[in-house]
Amino acid sequence: MTEIKYDFGLVGLGVMGRNFILNVADNNFSAIGLDLDTEKVESLLTEGEGRVVHATQDKLEFIEKLAPPRKIMLLVPAGKPVDAVINDLKPHLSEGDIIIDGGNSFYTDTNRRFEELSRDNIHFFGAGVSGGAKGARKGPSIMPGGDKEAYQHIKPIFEAASAKVNGEPCVAHLGNGSAGNYVKMVHNGIEYGMMQLIAEAYDLMKRGLGLSNDQLQETFTQWNAGRLQSFLIEITSEIFAQKDTLTSADLVDVILDKGKQKGTGKWTSQNAMDLGIPIPTVDVSVSMREISSLKGMREEAESIYGAGSTNSDATVEQVEEALYFNFIMAYAQGMQQLAAASEEYGYELDLEVISKIWRGGCIIRSGLLEKMRKAFSRNAKLQNLLLDGEFADEIKPLVGSTSKVVSSGLNAGIPLSAMSAGLNYFNAFKSGRLPMNLVQAQRDHFGSHTYERTDREGIFHTEW
Ligand code: 6PG
Repeated sequence: MTEIKYDFGLVGLGVMGRNFILNVADNNFSAIGLDLDTEKVESLLTEGEGRVVHATQDKLEFIEKLAPPRKIMLLVPAGKPVDAVINDLKPHLSEGDIIIDGGNSFYTDTNRRFEELSRDNIHFFGAGVSGGAKGARKGPSIMPGGDKEAYQHIKPIFEAASAKVNGEPCVAHLGNGSAGNYVKMVHNGIEYGMMQLIAEAYDLMKRGLGLSNDQLQETFTQWNAGRLQSFLIEITSEIFAQKDTLTSADLVDVILDKGKQKGTGKWTSQNAMDLGIPIPTVDVSVSMREISSLKGMREEAESIYGAGSTNSDATVEQVEEALYFNFIMAYAQGMQQLAAASEEYGYELDLEVISKIWRGGCIIRSGLLEKMRKAFSRNAKLQNLLLDGEFADEIKPLVGSTSKVVSSGLNAGIPLSAMSAGLNYFNAFKSGRLPMNLVQAQRDHFGSHTYERTDREGIFHTEW
C-alpha cells in the first residue's frame, strides 16, 4: 500500500492553526499538522476525524509525508518562533519547497527570510491571514506576497479556504517580497482606527446621550443594516447583548478599560511616518490605547479635574454620519499608505485587488469596501479616495454632522480623538492653502533652513 502524501502542511496547531487546517481539509485537500504539544496534536486528530487530516509531533514524519513541492504554512507567533521553525525545517527541505508565514510578521523580517531561503531555492511567502479564529475555520481573507510563479502551487488551496464574496475568493497574490505582510500590517492599522472610532461613538452615546446598553445594542444593529454594515459594527452590537457569567452585569461594563496591543498598529504608524504619509486616524488610535493603559494616572487626574458634565447635544443620527465619514477617512489614509509603500518597496500593489479581498473574511470587511473597489477600478492611479468623485458625493453631506459631533464631544469633555483626527485630516486635505508658509518662515528665521516661494522657482533665504 502506498503511503498518502499530503497536499498541505501546517506548523503550529493553536486555535488559528487547527481551525485553518480543518478548513483546508473541508475543502478536499489532504493536510498534515505539526506541533510539539501532545494535546494540540491530539485535539486535531480528534477534530479532524472523517477528513484526510493527520497530525504529528515528529518533524521528519511531517516533512516525509508532504507531497512535492512541499507547501508548509506556519501559524506561530511572530518574531523568533518563526525563525526557529524555519531553521528547524530548512535542512530537511528540498529545492522548490514553499514556506508560508501566516502570522503578523514585521515586513522587514519577511524580506530577510525571503532572501535567506531563496539562497537554497526555497520559496518564502509572507501571507497575512485575517478573520480571527472563526475566519480561519470558515474562510479568512488571505494576503499572500512572494514569488508569483510559486504562488500557483498554493493558489488552489488558498482560494478554496478563503472567504468568498459574490463567489470571488478573498485572496490574491498581492506582490513580491514582503507585500503580503505589509498589506496585512496596514489592514491592522485601519482596524485600530475603526475600533477606536466605534469606541468613541459608544462613549459619546453612553456618557453624552445617556443611551443604555440595550439601546446601544439596538442602535448598532440598525447601523449594521445600513451603510455602516461591517464586521466590527456587527460584533459591537453583539457585545452589548452579552451578559456576564460571573455577575448579573452586562459583560461590557465589567471589562477593564485598558487597551492592549501586539504592535501592528504602531508599526503602521511608524512606517507611515517613514514614508511621509499622514495617517492621523491610526496614529491617534495607537495613542488612545496607550492613554487607556495609564489607568492609575487617569483616575488620579479625574479626582483633580473632575469628569465634568458630559452632556452632549449631538443626535444618534449625527453620530452615525460622523462614524461613516470617519470610516472613509481611515480607509483613505491606509490606501494612500499602501500606494506609497508600493512605490517605495517595489511591491506593485493593485489597490482594487486589495479592496476586493478585504470585502470578506477579514476584520475590516464592510459594505464600504465594494465602493472602494469600484473607485480604484475607475482609476487605478487614484492617489487618495477623497479625490474620487463618487466618494466626494458621499463625503460632502457628512461634513456638517461630523463637525457637530466632534465639537459636541469637545464641549462635553468626551475625548473623540480619532473622530477629530479624521475631521482635521479632511479639513487639512481640502485646504488648498495651509499655514505652513509661516512654519517655513520660522525655520528660515532661526536656522537658515530656506524656503520656496509662491511666485517664482528656486530656494530662498532671508536675513530676518
Ligand atoms: C486579524 C487581526 C489579528 C490581530 C488582532 C489583535 O486580522 O485577524 O488583525 O491579526 O492579531 O486584531 O491585534 P492587537 O492585539 O494588536 O489589537
